[in-house]
Amino acid sequence: MSKYIIMPCGSLNGEVEISGSKNALLPILAASIMGEGESVIKNAPMLVDSHNMCSMLTHLGAKLQISEDTICIKPHNLSGDLENFAPVELLRASFLISGPLLAKIGKVNISMPGGCQIGVRPIDLHLKGLCALGADIEQQHGYIKLSCRKLKGNKIYLDFPSVGATENIMMAASMADGETIIENAATEPEISDLALYINNMGGKVTGAGTDTIKIMGVKKLKGCTHFVIPDRIEAGTFMIGAAATKGNILIKNVIPQHLKPVTSKLREIGINVDEGDTFIKICGESPINATDIKTLPYPGFPTDMQAQFSTLLSISNGTSVVTETIFENRFMHLTELKRMGANIKIDGRTSVIQGIDHLTGASVRATDLRAGAALVIAGLVADGQTEIDNIGYLDRGYYKFEEKMNKLGANITRI
Ligand code: UD1
Repeated sequence: MSKYIIMPCGSLNGEVEISGSKNALLPILAASIMGEGESVIKNAPMLVDSHNMCSMLTHLGAKLQISEDTICIKPHNLSGDLENFAPVELLRASFLISGPLLAKIGKVNISMPGGCQIGVRPIDLHLKGLCALGADIEQQHGYIKLSCRKLKGNKIYLDFPSVGATENIMMAASMADGETIIENAATEPEISDLALYINNMGGKVTGAGTDTIKIMGVKKLKGCTHFVIPDRIEAGTFMIGAAATKGNILIKNVIPQHLKPVTSKLREIGINVDEGDTFIKICGESPINATDIKTLPYPGFPTDMQAQFSTLLSISNGTSVVTETIFENRFMHLTELKRMGANIKIDGRTSVIQGIDHLTGASVRATDLRAGAALVIAGLVADGQTEIDNIGYLDRGYYKFEEKMNKLGANITRI
């Protein structure tokens, strides 16, 4: 895997344009196979995960054309066979294909999904939902076989508002017989974007963005054109980059509403955040104060921003307590931050961060996607050189990351 070499850069300044959301794109690509006719997906960030999902669709029989940030998908004579197909094991979102395949052709044979090692990440809630819609499930030696004659709408209560399970069930239900109601559904903006896409295909989904989603199944869905929402996590990462380096950044192409939990925490610790219709401005000149953070399902503080915010708190004035409630193994970046001098104590899912004056460059390792982003921010503010190993993780979720950072004044080299 490649490495980043990061040299101190002073503050980040200028403008940055946010790409489309990876977490919105992946389920939309999965849903596209349910359409009769072509879907055109615009503002698609062509990341490693996006390419892997595209190769899954091609493997199933769909015809794809990719040019810059547009993907055209023509579903055609689909097979449901994804057993032993390597890309499936590279990303967690690969399992999102199972709902659409069940709805469209009534069968799928798929390896267990992969993804970042931030916790056990079971798929029981996906299976519970698909089973309630009438799928037969056979699990064996790392593979899952799902089949059905015809899915039937049902009432499904999720024990936890899982993003992926909500999406998978919503997609399967959109072509089932009758009505499905998902209770305790996840409310993340990416779910609303998926619902919008399904509805533009001719589906009947209401309530996406609330904890009760109703889906009236339709016989057919058609292809359509869809513009993916901006990536709130990419935007949040640049917001923290600006705050940590005491820079001034104009972040363009965002939906500020999606970043409320991050914006409000930044304001709480003394950072000046200005919002417009489609932009956010950060002025990070003031001192950074400590605060406490607890990750929660949306609209709570996102687990995908916890690592980056922890870097910021490691150079704040005072003591912060960070509690991770979504994933059980999402503090691996803290061990790496400690190599850079951060004063952090970890106790299970809670970490106590005593802010220090400055971090010191060191050789560290990205252990997952957002951990990698947190270490880049640490490298920007550290004294001396920082070397980050394993940056392939960053390529899974940040489009042209070092190019965008360097345009703002960072000094990051990929080797
Ligand atoms: C999605 C995002 C990921 C984000 C996460 C939480 C995508 C492609 N990824 O992941 O970036 O960090 O939401 O906001 O959109 N769980 C179960 N059983 C299940 C499913 C989930 O126990 O069947 C648990 C998980 O182990 C985890 C929690 O629920 O502890 C949240 O997972 P979930 O919301 O499903 O996350 P993902 O959809 O995998």
